[in-house]
Amino acid sequence: MEILEAIKTRRSIRRYKATPVDDRTIELVLEAAHWAPSWANTQCWRFIVVRDSKIKDKLADTLIAVSDRPNRAADAIRNAPVAIVACAELGKSGYFYGRQPGEPATDKGDWYMFDVALAMQNLTLAAHSLGLGTVHVGAFDAKKAATILGVPQGFCVVEMTPLGYPDEEPPIRPRQELSEIVSYDKYGLK
Ligand SMILES: Cc1cc2nc3c(=O)[nH]c(=O)nc-3n(C[C@H](O)[C@H](O)[C@H](O)COP(=O)(O)O)c2cc1C
Repeated sequence: MEILEAIKTRRSIRRYKATPVDDRTIELVLEAAHWAPSWANTQCWRFIVVRDSKIKDKLADTLIAVSDRPNRAADAIRNAPVAIVACAELGKSGYFYGRQPGEPATDKGDWYMFDVALAMQNLTLAAHSLGLGTVHVGAFDAKKAATILGVPQGFCVVEMTPLGYPDEEPPIRPRQELSEIVSYDKYGLK
C-alpha cells in the first residue's frame, strides 16, 4: 500500500474479529514503530505486547470516560487478540546528549510524548497496510496501567492500541479544510 493511501484510509477501529494475529505480523508492526525518528536517536520508547486476556481486561478497566461518555475503546482492548502498550523512558528525549538527566534542551521539556507518538503512528499505518486495525488510546489511568504491567520507575505508559483484524468499517471522521489550518510566512496570513 502506498504511504499516502495508507494515511488517508486508516481509521480508528474499535470492533475486532477473534482471528489471532501471528507473531511475524506483530514483529512487522513493531519494526515499523522502531524505525521512527526520535530526539538525537535516543529511542526512549518501549513496547509491551499483551495477549493475556486477564491483563487486557485489567488494562481496559483503566480507560476513562471522555466527555462523560464511556471510553469507546475499552471493549476493543478487551476483545482484540492483542494490545500493544507504548511506554517511554523519561529524561532521554529532549535532553542534551550525555547530560541527561538534567535541564531539558528546549522550553518544551521532555519530548517523550512526541517520540512515542511518531513510533505509534508508524505502527498504526503499518498495521493498516497489513489489513489490521488499531486505535490510539490515550484516555486511561497511566499509573494504574503501569502497576498492572510492572513498568519500572523512570518509565511511564504513554498510550495503547488494540491490534487485530477489523470487524467494522467506520465512516470517515471529517478534517478541517487546509485553508483553515495553514498559514503562509506568518501565523494567520493566507
Ligand atoms: C492521542 C490520541 C488519543 C486518543 N484516545 C482515544 C481514546 O482514549 N479512546 C478512543 O476511543 N479513541 C481515542 N483516540 C482516537 C480518536 O478519537 C480518533 O483518532 C479521531 O476521532 C479520528 O478518527 P480516525 O482515527 O478514524 O481518523 C485517540 C487518538 C489520539 C491521537
